[in-house]
Amino acid sequence: RGQYRVVVIGSGNWGSVAAKLIASNTIKQPIFYDEVWMWVYEETLHTGEKLSEVINQTNENVKYLPGIKLGNNVIADPDLENAVKEANMLVFVTPHQFVAGICKRLVGKIRPGTEAISLIKGMEVKMEGPFMISKLITDMLGINCCVLMGANIANEIAVEKFSEATVGYRQDKEVAQRWARLFSTPYFLVSIVQDVEGVELCGTLKNVVAIAAGLVDGLDMGNNTKAAIMRIGLREMRAFSKLLFSSVRDSTFFESCGVADLITTCLGGRNRKVSEAFARSGGKRSFDELEAELLQGQKLQNNAIPEPLEQQAIDLAATNCHPPLWYSDRKFIIESRKIRWDWVCPRQKKFM
Ligand code: NAD
Ligand code: 13P
Repeated sequence: RGQYRVVVIGSGNWGSVAAKLIASNTIKQPIFYDEVWMWVYEETLHTGEKLSEVINQTNENVKYLPGIKLGNNVIADPDLENAVKEANMLVFVTPHQFVAGICKRLVGKIRPGTEAISLIKGMEVKMEGPFMISKLITDMLGINCCVLMGANIANEIAVEKFSEATVGYRQDKEVAQRWARLFSTPYFLVSIVQDVEGVELCGTLKNVVAIAAGLVDGLDMGNNTKAAIMRIGLREMRAFSKLLFSSVRDSTFFESCGVADLITTCLGGRNRKVSEAFARSGGKRSFDELEAELLQGQKLQNNAIPEPLEQQAIDLAATNCHPPLWYSDRKFIIESRKIRWDWVCPRQKKFM
């Protein structure tokens, strides 16, 4: 019993829900060890208490998922090395900007034969170009890494409303099936596809389209325009994905990780919310300020691009993407904190 031991690396909104989902399965399925470790980036709450201690006392993540019991078999641990020490299934679910630092601390600390999965929607953009988070984990830790993406607003899954998700794998179908088994519940339906880059790029690029959807909402441009943003956005996600990896499959865009995640994020995601507020402020309030005010510790899903690469990215997209509706002469948005208003809506230059 308990051949596979799971650690969830991350304890934000989705990290906590993932731990809950997993814990509800490990307790029932003998191949998994009952207890699920959850690494907590330690914070001191306004009460003066440590977040990890409060999680263990109350079985709730009072900061990122208040009101939801995680399951008595979830153990919060602020010590990263200790949390992973016995595990052979690593679930990465932190904001993408922290992954490299976390992996650096884990080098040499992972058990042989360990498998990883990334639930992280984002990518690193290095000087050499875009870099997928699953590849970063594989390269830094020398372990195989699948991905799980989908139309998965965490707060809805927390209260067991139905949703679907997609596991992307590279070669080993059996490993992907094990991940699906770890996550699947009657209200969380997981399918697997052999297209790790396609699945991960869907989860990453929809966050860019969601910024445009939020701006459309903030400008009261209506549902038809927003639908057009989603349709053209999906087409551009596909074009951009294939530009990076020719192996990406068209069919992946029809899985939950594709069109479904795009829709839910453009309706209810945090990038949409903050961009709407940005537009309603007439472009006067910064994304940093709005993030702190509206997301209460959660992070915007932004993909930072190094300054020297900006023009190159614009030119690249201009030659490869379809004529866009949501930005005219400039053809690319990848950086949400310094978003160029004229890329998004040329007729609203008064806000610049
Ligand atoms: P979150 O935005 O709710 O929380 C931020 C987390 O980052 C907190 O746990 C915080 O403690 C941690 N943190 C802050 N500073 C840190 C540091 N220096 N090092 C490490 N951790 C630090 O997080 P989330 O919603 O769980 O998002 C994690 C990933 O999951 C993201 O890539 C997101 O795109 C993806 N995702 C989120 C949802 C959702 O609905 N929330 C759904 C699907 C996927
Ligand atoms: P946000 O992270 O944008 O809130 O949306 C969650 C998500 O990825 C939905 O699938």
